[in-house]
Amino acid sequence: MSKRTRPSNHHDELRDVIDAPQKTAADYNIKHIRNDIWDFFYRKRSHRPQKTTGISKTEIVQTLPFLQRYVHEIVDAGRGLLVMYTLVSFALALIPAFSIHFSGELLNMVKMVIEKREVDKEKLIYIVGVQAICPVATNLCNSFTSRYEPVLRRRINKNFDEHLLQARLRLDLPTYEDPVVQARLEACSDRLGAMGWNVFNDILEWFSRILSFTSQVSVVAKLLHDQQSGFLAILSIVCHISAFLLRPGYPRWNSDWVVFSDNSDIEKINGLRKCAVATDYRKEVIAGNLQEYIQNEHRQARESLGDAPALVQDAQWETRFAEASNLGFLGGLLERIPEVYLAVRAIHTPTLFATSFASLKILQENATSLARKSSKILTGSRSILTHIRTIRDFYEIINIPNQIVDGTEAYPVDHDKDLGTSVEFKDVCFRYPGAKEDCLRKVSFKIKPGQICVIVGANGEGKSTIIKLINRLYDCTEGQILLDGKDIRSFKLADLRKSMSVLYQDYRHLPVSIGKNIGMGDPDNADNEMKIHEAASLGGASDFIKKLPSGFQTVMENRLNMSVGGRKGESLYEDLVQLGLVKAPAKGGLSGGQLQRLALSRTFMRSRDEITLCLYDEPSAALDPQAEYDLFQRLRLLKGQKTMVFSSHRFGHLTKHADVILYVKGGTVCEAGTHAELLAKGELYAQLYNVQAQAFQE
Ligand SMILES: Nc1ncnc2c1ncn2[C@@H]1O[C@H](COP(=O)(O)OP(=O)(O)O)[C@@H](O)[C@H]1O
Ligand SMILES: [Mg+2]
Repeated sequence: MSKRTRPSNHHDELRDVIDAPQKTAADYNIKHIRNDIWDFFYRKRSHRPQKTTGISKTEIVQTLPFLQRYVHEIVDAGRGLLVMYTLVSFALALIPAFSIHFSGELLNMVKMVIEKREVDKEKLIYIVGVQAICPVATNLCNSFTSRYEPVLRRRINKNFDEHLLQARLRLDLPTYEDPVVQARLEACSDRLGAMGWNVFNDILEWFSRILSFTSQVSVVAKLLHDQQSGFLAILSIVCHISAFLLRPGYPRWNSDWVVFSDNSDIEKINGLRKCAVATDYRKEVIAGNLQEYIQNEHRQARESLGDAPALVQDAQWETRFAEASNLGFLGGLLERIPEVYLAVRAIHTPTLFATSFASLKILQENATSLARKSSKILTGSRSILTHIRTIRDFYEIINIPNQIVDGTEAYPVDHDKDLGTSVEFKDVCFRYPGAKEDCLRKVSFKIKPGQICVIVGANGEGKSTIIKLINRLYDCTEGQILLDGKDIRSFKLADLRKSMSVLYQDYRHLPVSIGKNIGMGDPDNADNEMKIHEAASLGGASDFIKKLPSGFQTVMENRLNMSVGGRKGESLYEDLVQLGLVKAPAKGGLSGGQLQRLALSRTFMRSRDEITLCLYDEPSAALDPQAEYDLFQRLRLLKGQKTMVFSSHRFGHLTKHADVILYVKGGTVCEAGTHAELLAKGELYAQLYNVQAQAFQE
């Protein structure tokens, strides 16, 4: 994949584009912000109201234990900084009330001076002193929170992000495919992305607002009670609420946007996340023993990003104030009206001016913030309820029990490593989760160490299922599967998978580079280039990979480093591609045969010493006849004494060399034997073989 070159200052590039004679970003009304390694492009769209969700009280009660666990984890992730941040936020919430209280004291003093003509100097100095400290303290607290918010947010999100990845990676296939589990994963996948911080921050803000609101209201109420300034109070509140309605909005909240990063770690991180999260890759990840590898690679890529935001959500949130409109001055004018009124009144009754002016000042300071806080407490409570649900979903996903229970014994036991595994099925029945009838019925067969076994049969008869059971992707529902004479369920899953090399019929190319795809055939050597090249040539993939412009670095997945949002986000993306501001999607893919060669290459990664059993599910289905012939030659050469199990709906090269052919029909093995034996028998296998052979003779 060719990396786009970019001048250090991205604005320059944007300007280059704008200077160019063709259409420019400005012509498309596209705005741009750069944050660290991310580029934001956005375009305003007309407003759309947000949806809200309700939640029941019992739901909240059920969530309490989860809430507790969440708090524990947040504290673990944020530690001292989190405590400081919370305390400072609460202090910030209390300062206004504090300040009003002392304003009131000052007012009382002014009153006393007017009435009694004497001043308590000490008290005056004290009050003025405290009043002066308030704004300074506010400022300090604010700079503390804005300085440390990104640090804390990234820390917390990093922690939860890793959890989420692990929660997905650990699920086995039957659990993962369970419709209930699927529904749960799907329902919350959007919300969980940046949930760690968002939930904490919203709850903290909500409590701070309540604290702030109640303290302010109680102090103001006391003050208004002490002074009698009815009309002024009403005028002041009306003006401030109007000013509040004119406050600056954040235009990007109703925009279409494209977030893009050309940092290679971002592509890697998102590719790995996708391996963990997307259903398509489940089998490869489980059978390939890739859970730990993915988790480690992901962690490493995140480390190498340092403090740069890895999550689109983080990066995006940090730019939220970049474009606030500045209609705010109108509101500022409105807020001054009560003062004008007061000044006019003072001309008539000068004696009242001082105290009235003072109480006006206090009212002014509070009317807007009270209006805003009360409205935010109301809307905030709704989002708190949603967050409670998010926390519950998060932990429920983490706690989903796996159906495939891990064994305890190491594998292989007392086993000559050169010798293949023996496989025995004893009356095995199997039904897919959620299916109405059994797919395998009383399947029994035996494969001796080092034998080549070929499972043949028509489509949908259960060949692939047998292979999935040998690999323990699923457990049989009845009967027993023995490896080297012992129940397969007694062995450690990781050991089993290490000792087997599997090629699935529905092989999935992982959303990482082609080289990595092959390398991940052996998580312990995934970055060993020499081995990767060797495996590629054994799999017959070398030639076409070398012809690709980026060779082994080619990533065939698009949009790993990008996110598109908004109703018309796609058209914004198309415009950006046209302007050359965002990389165009890679054209074309690989042919079925090329993909199959990649899949084969992956199976050649693992050191031959480790493997005792090779499973190939229709390995040559997409290969041309010559490639098929070459492949089987290579496999036989490399075979040594390993056991090999193939499935195939074709007869010929393979079946002639097989030690055992299993003919599967209607979910059970109807015939077993060598090619010669089955031909001599003249039944099902012989009939089908002759049908295929005839095609060549005619
Ligand atoms: N994940 C699954 N869930 C439910 N049914 C499945 C699943 N996979 C396969 N089946 C069904 O099991 C039967 C056997 O499938 P399979 O073993 O793939 O056949 P073959 O490999 O011989 O073509 C088919 O009827 C198929 O529809
Ligand atoms: Mg199949």
